[in-house]
Amino acid sequence: MKTIQKVSVCGLGKLGACIAATFAERGFEVLGVDIDPEKVRKINEGLPPVEEPLLAETIKAGKARLRATTDHREAVETDASFFIPPSPSLPDGSFSNEYLLKAMAPIAGAVKQKGKRGHLFVCSSTTTPGAVDQVLIPMLEREIGGVCGRDFGFCYNPEFIALGNVVRGLLEPDMVLIGESDPESGSALEQAYKKYNRNTPRIARMSIISAELTKISVNSYITMKISFTNQLRMVADRFPKADIHTILEAIGSDSRIGQKYLRAGLSYGGPCFPRDNRLLAYAARQVGLDAPLAEASDKVNQQANQDLFQKVQNLAKKDETIAVLGLSYKPDTYITEEAAGLYLAQQLKRHGFRVVVHDYGARPDNAPSVHEFEHLDDPAVLEKRSDVKLAVICCPWPQYRNVKFAPGTKVLTPWKL
Ligand SMILES: NC(=O)c1ccc[n+]([C@@H]2O[C@H](COP(=O)([O-])OP(=O)(O)OC[C@H]3O[C@@H](n4cnc5c(N)ncnc54)[C@H](O)[C@@H]3O)[C@@H](O)[C@H]2O)c1
Repeated sequence: MKTIQKVSVCGLGKLGACIAATFAERGFEVLGVDIDPEKVRKINEGLPPVEEPLLAETIKAGKARLRATTDHREAVETDASFFIPPSPSLPDGSFSNEYLLKAMAPIAGAVKQKGKRGHLFVCSSTTTPGAVDQVLIPMLEREIGGVCGRDFGFCYNPEFIALGNVVRGLLEPDMVLIGESDPESGSALEQAYKKYNRNTPRIARMSIISAELTKISVNSYITMKISFTNQLRMVADRFPKADIHTILEAIGSDSRIGQKYLRAGLSYGGPCFPRDNRLLAYAARQVGLDAPLAEASDKVNQQANQDLFQKVQNLAKKDETIAVLGLSYKPDTYITEEAAGLYLAQQLKRHGFRVVVHDYGARPDNAPSVHEFEHLDDPAVLEKRSDVKLAVICCPWPQYRNVKFAPGTKVLTPWKL
């Protein structure tokens, strides 16, 4: 069986930089590839190209085995190429293959030119179910002039990580998911993971289409759980003596249900949950079905945002200033994509309220969405801001527990901080 010792990682963004760094730290020879020369320069200087806890230390630990280039063709010298460029959502809910095709084509060209057999292509970006078999592999077969599974291998191998915890999430996952074009490719990747992982996760091997469906179904299931808690929270809120935290703790004690993600909070957001859930609905439509559960999760998520906005409008007057605390979609990240706090701040501003914002991760220099608001560098100033009549804590950064407010400021949060 083929052994993977040298790997190339194409796309050195939020996920790819961590994949490259962790492979190097775990003893693999790693070549990072990106079209962004700045990211390549940073990796070659031993610096993190993106903000992520533990990434700087991991790059330092594996520096002797890690280098980067903007020339994709150099990847032909490695045993396996991992692809982790963006796969942005399209208006119909499917994900674009454009970046993956552009990243894979030059390496396929180099494989053909060298007459190399057995190169392993590993797609880690999330894809629309069916895209690998119908679009990516056919392109590689054309470019290489060979047959997948015989002349080269393909694995679909998405990661299940949360921003802010990517390094540990990669090295100690619950599961490694491998969709394989052929058993030899799957076995080679499985063996590589046995060396790479610090724990002994379940390695789930299956067909590529099964793996594409598995990846988005994990996130769709989690969004369903979050929407269930939000639906219940909105109902319980309307019964004056009901306490959602007590209710959810009791429900979660049933071992068939469990406590995880059964926590009262706000809508889900970020770069994966909302769009992966919508992708499952798209995949269902492609085969002539509805996916009412996925669609309902999305609907409840929007209701949760509306509900918060309504509640704030009921509590505040137009000439008062409202502080929205926590614009990122979860603690330990600066990403504000589809975040509850960002939605609330934008709606309030559009409806004429004065808004000040704060977040421990998202700042004007790393999150463009913050620019339109008055941004507080430190929430400690709120103790003296008597113009702020209402503060809404939207993201459960634990530090908000200790923030002091001016006398008379009302504080609203659905989170049990
Ligand atoms: N960020 C997450 O939390 C997360 C979690 C799971 C899965 N994913 C998936 O991972 C993929 C990447 O996400 P990300 O957040 O790391 O994206 P990102 O935008 O942070 O990084 C993508 C990187 O790819 C590079 N790139 C673009 N075209 C390229 C090409 N042709 N060749 C080489 N590099 C190229 C970009 O310059 C950038 O550095 C997406 O499919 C996403 O759905 C992301």
